[in-house]
Amino acid sequence: MAAKYPLLLTPGPLNTSERTKQAMLHDWGSRDGGFIELTARLNRRLTALARAEETHVCVPLSGSGTTAVEAMLGTLVPREGRALVLENGAYGRRMCNILARAGRNFDFLESPENEPLDPAAAAARMDADNRISDVVMVHCETTSGVLNPLAEISEETTRRGKRLLVDAMSSFGAIPIDARQIIFDGLAASANKCLESVPGMSFVLARKTHLKACVGSCHSVTLDLNAQWQGFETNGQWRFTPPTQVAAALDSALDQLNDEGGIGSRFARYWENCHTLVTGMRRLGFETYLADEIQAPIIVTFRMPADPAFDFATFYDALAARGFVIYPGKLTEDASFRIGCIGDIRSPDIKSLLRAVESVLGEMGGNKPAR
Ligand SMILES: Cc1ncc(COP(=O)(O)O)c(C=O)c1O
Repeated sequence: MAAKYPLLLTPGPLNTSERTKQAMLHDWGSRDGGFIELTARLNRRLTALARAEETHVCVPLSGSGTTAVEAMLGTLVPREGRALVLENGAYGRRMCNILARAGRNFDFLESPENEPLDPAAAAARMDADNRISDVVMVHCETTSGVLNPLAEISEETTRRGKRLLVDAMSSFGAIPIDARQIIFDGLAASANKCLESVPGMSFVLARKTHLKACVGSCHSVTLDLNAQWQGFETNGQWRFTPPTQVAAALDSALDQLNDEGGIGSRFARYWENCHTLVTGMRRLGFETYLADEIQAPIIVTFRMPADPAFDFATFYDALAARGFVIYPGKLTEDASFRIGCIGDIRSPDIKSLLRAVESVLGEMGGNKPAR
C-alpha cells in the first residue's frame, strides 16, 4: 500500500492534510470565548467565500450535508409556498423526498442524468404555474458529475421574482459562486468536500431578509435555521452541542484554501486531477459517461466495461488493497462507477491510481475493457 494512503477518490469524506488533522487536537469548551470567536470567524469566512457578506448569513449545523439541505428546505420554503425541484440525479431526487417529508408543496422537472438542467424548460414551468415560490436545484450533481447551469437558472428565477435554493455540496469551495452576480436565497454545503475538512459539520448561506421572515416556519427544532441564527445573534453560541474539533479543522482548512490561492487555484488543481484521470482512464480503455463539455472537475463517472473478464467487486477490492478507494455508481439506468478528483490530492496521486488500475486490469485477465 502506498505511503500516505488510503487515497479516497470518492465524493467524500476525502483526504485531509496533516495540518487539518492537527487542528483537531485541542479540546474546546463550547461556551468559551475562544470557541465563540472561532464560530463567528468561520461564519464570516464562509459567507465571504461566496462574496455574500452584504446579503447573506452563514448558519452552521452539526451533521452531514443532507442535514443542511433538509434545514434549508424546511426553513426557507414557506408552508404555504410551492417548490419546483429541477432534478437530474439522486441528490435532486433526495430533495423531493425531503420536501415530501416536511409536508411542503412541490413539483419536479426531471432532466436526463447525462445532461445538465435546462434553464429554458425551468422558465417555461415557472411561467405555467404561478404558485411556484421557490426553485430548488443541485449545482454539481454528484450522481454523474455534471455541472448544472446555476447562473442561467438564477437569471430565470430572478427575472420572475422566485427564490432559488441550491445544493452546492460538491461544488462550494472549488467552483466560484459570486452572490453579487448569481442571485440565490439559500445555498447548502458541507465541510468535508471541496473545503477539504473533516465530516460532521454543514452550513447554509441564507439571504438575511428572507431568513428573518422565517420565524417558526421549520417543522423541526434542530433543523430550524431561523432559530439557529437567532441563537448566534443572541450570544454567539450554538444552540446544541457543537462539533468543536470539526469546526476547528474547518477553520484550519480555510486557512489552507487561502494559502493555496483561493477558490481559483483549487479549481485549477481539481481540473488538473480530472484531466489526468480522464486521459489516463481513456488510455486504459474506459469510457466516460458524460461529454467533456458538461463534466465538472469534481467526480467522473465511467461506464462499466462490458468485457466479461471485468468484475467490479474484484476491481474495487484490488484497488482498495493497493490503497485506492473508488466509488460505485449511483445512476438509475446505466451501470457505472465513479472516481473523485477532490480532496488533498494532486495529479501525481492520480497517476499512481492509474498505475494501480493498469496493474489490476492485468490481473483480471484483460487490460483493454471492451464495452
Ligand atoms: C450534491 C450532494 N448533495 C448532498 C449530498 C449529501 O451529503 P451527505 O452525504 O454529507 O449528507 C452529497 C454527498 O455526496 C452531494 O454530493
